[in-house]
Amino acid sequence: APVPIPDLTKCVIPPSGAPVPINCCPPFSKDIIDFKYPSFEKLRVRPAAQLVDDDYFAKYNKALELMRALPDDDPRSFSQQAKIHCAYCVGGYKQLGYPEIELSVHNSWLFLAFHRWYIYFYERILGSLINDPTFAIPFWNFDAPDGMQIPSIFTNPNSSLYDLKRDSRHQPPRIIDLNYNKDTEDPGPNYPPSAEQQIKDNLTLMHKQMITNSKTCILFHGSPYRAGQAPGKGHGALEMSPHNNVHIWSGDAKQPYREDMGNFYSSGRDPLFYALHANVDRLWSIWKTLGGKRKDPTDDDWLESEFLFYDENKNLVKVKVKDGLDGKKLGYDYQKVDIPWINSKP
Ligand code: C2O
Repeated sequence: APVPIPDLTKCVIPPSGAPVPINCCPPFSKDIIDFKYPSFEKLRVRPAAQLVDDDYFAKYNKALELMRALPDDDPRSFSQQAKIHCAYCVGGYKQLGYPEIELSVHNSWLFLAFHRWYIYFYERILGSLINDPTFAIPFWNFDAPDGMQIPSIFTNPNSSLYDLKRDSRHQPPRIIDLNYNKDTEDPGPNYPPSAEQQIKDNLTLMHKQMITNSKTCILFHGSPYRAGQAPGKGHGALEMSPHNNVHIWSGDAKQPYREDMGNFYSSGRDPLFYALHANVDRLWSIWKTLGGKRKDPTDDDWLESEFLFYDENKNLVKVKVKDGLDGKKLGYDYQKVDIPWINSKP
């Protein structure tokens, strides 16, 4: 059977897998409405973060400022948006109808679908706060050379897009290492490689993960995870790398748990998170165009799996994986930019 919604009456405090004792539970409501497709006049186009202009930056800055200013118990507030990740990813939830069984979306075929919905509502809330239904969040285009640094819009300490808990060594112009892991920390005199070499390595990795290692839906999305099963069945190629690596690279190695980006419980606190996931989401859409058996799962247990999110009107909404397979139906698309790794054969 498909993974059911979390049982909000059984939200765990603190979550079993959180390294610090925190409360990640959302405000409670028993009124759950079914998701309906939004109506819109034109698609919201998510721009590459390195390409946006000052007006766009000002708009996002304003929207996030308003989101940060909402009271903590407002489900639209930035602190509640961050807690979504904590609740769904470090053992805050049990599956409805399975009081003993944890609900956790990572390391499984729910990874891409869950995060698509997560950033969808985040974006809708921001748009509604500034009264601009065309507002679209930026994507961190780390798969292309001119996007392989922390995008500069996130690095101004006076803006709402800034987060203090990031690795100081990895500020621009440092090129991201898409294959970074904790062991890369003291890897010897040849690390980091030259910028030029790092870019090459990144493109090779992208090609490998998106094409060579992602020939089927399970290899790409991750292993089946069904109702009543414990989570953590196995990650797909993109989740493992570069996704996990970008998290670890971005978080602050001097914080006890690599906050913010480097730990599930805290990563939603960094606005960079939503840009990372917009690109992961974009890469999912690209993968589906790469041919062969690269198609989404057709298993009903995947299609019918459900999540809960609060929307821009503070309604608690139940969504299904199958309703999120086409971003255009959800009202958004991505700015078209070059995809240089398509031709970077390892
Ligand atoms: Cu839920 Cu980028 O992780």
